[in-house]
Amino acid sequence: QEYNEKESLYIALNYAKDFFHENLQSGEGQSIGLSYLKERGFDASTIEKFELGYSLDGWDHLLNKAKGAGFEESNLLKAGLILERENKPGNYYDRFRGRVMFPIHNLSGKAIAFGARIMTQDKKQPKYINSPETVIYHKSDVLYGIYQAKQAIRQKDNCYLVEGYTDVISMHLAGVENVVASSGTSLTESQIKLIKRFTDQVTVLYDGDDAGINASLRGIDMLLEGGLNVKAVVFPPNEDPDSFARKSGKEGFKKFLEKEEKDFIHFKIDLFAKGAADDPIKRAEAIRQVVLSISKVPDPIIRSVYAKESARLLAMEEDILLTELNRQLLKNQ
Ligand code: CTP
Ligand code: MN
Ligand code: MN
Ligand code: MN
Ligand code: MN
Repeated sequence: QEYNEKESLYIALNYAKDFFHENLQSGEGQSIGLSYLKERGFDASTIEKFELGYSLDGWDHLLNKAKGAGFEESNLLKAGLILERENKPGNYYDRFRGRVMFPIHNLSGKAIAFGARIMTQDKKQPKYINSPETVIYHKSDVLYGIYQAKQAIRQKDNCYLVEGYTDVISMHLAGVENVVASSGTSLTESQIKLIKRFTDQVTVLYDGDDAGINASLRGIDMLLEGGLNVKAVVFPPNEDPDSFARKSGKEGFKKFLEKEEKDFIHFKIDLFAKGAADDPIKRAEAIRQVVLSISKVPDPIIRSVYAKESARLLAMEEDILLTELNRQLLKNQ
C-alpha cells in the first residue's frame, strides 16, 4: 500500500509509541522506566492515558525492531526517531536512548513527537530531549496535553497553562484535567489560537522561579493581545505544579489554586509593588507595568473596564491612568 509522506510519519510514530509503551512491561523498561514513573506517583491508568513509555538504553533497539517490521530508514529519519552517524553516511542510530518517553499528541490523539526525560542527574546530558521539527510536528503550533484536556477545557471554560509535561500529568492526577503545557518555550500566536478554539480564559501556572515568573509576564501579555481573559497563580519558590500537587494532595492543591488565583492586574500589582504599595517608586513601577499589559488588550471597551478597575485598585485618579494608557497605546503602534 502507498502512503503519502505525512501518513507514513504518523504510522512510524505510532509504531515507536507502542514499542516504547510495551517496553515498560518487562526487563530494563520495567525495572528502570516503570519504577521511575511509579516513584513520581504516576499510576497505571495515568500511564495509559498519556501513553507513557521507555526507550531502551542502546544504539539501535527501535531502529532494528522497526526495520524488521518493514519501516524504511528514510521514513524513521524524517519522523525524527533516528539520527545519521556524522562520519558514516547511511549509518543510523536511535535518537532516544534510556529515557522515559512522553508522546506528544495532536488534537485527534495521534502521536506526532516525543519528549524524553533522563532518569539520572547526569549533568552532561540535557534533562529532556525532544523530537525535531518534522513535516507533522511544528513545535510552535502544539500544546502538550491538548488531546487529553480539550473536553475539560470546554466544559470548565478555562484552560490552565503550565510549563512541563509532568505538570500536566500530575494535575490530571489531582483531578484537574483542563491543563496544557507550553513545554518550556515562550507561547506563540498559533498556540493561543489553539486554546481559543475551546475557551477564552487562561490561568497561567508557571514554575515558582525567576524564569517562571518572567515567562508568566511574557505569556500574560501575549494572551491579552490574543483577546483572552488572563489569570495567574504564583507558586512558592522552587515549586512547580507537579511538585506542589504531590506535596499538597488533591484537595489541598485545588484549594491552593482557588485561593491564589489572581487576575493579571492583581498579579502585576502584587509582583511589582511587593507589599510596599506606599513606596512611591514601586507604586509608579506597578502602575506602569499594569498599564503596559492593559495596552495590549485589543478591545477598547474591555481596555477601559480594566483601566477603571486598576485605577480603583491602585487608588489613583482614573484620568491619570488613562493618560498613561493612551501614551502607551501610541507607543505600541
Ligand atoms: N524542557 C526541555 N528541555 C530541557 C528542559 C526543559 O524541553 N532541557 C521543557 C520540557 O517540556 C519540560 C519543560 O521545559 O517539561 C519545563 O522544564 P522544567 O521545569 O525544567 O522541567 P519539569 O517539567 O519540571 O520536569 P521534571 O519535573 O521532570 O524535572
Ligand atoms: Mn498499556
Ligand atoms: Mn523551571
Ligand atoms: Mn518544572
Ligand atoms: Mn517538575
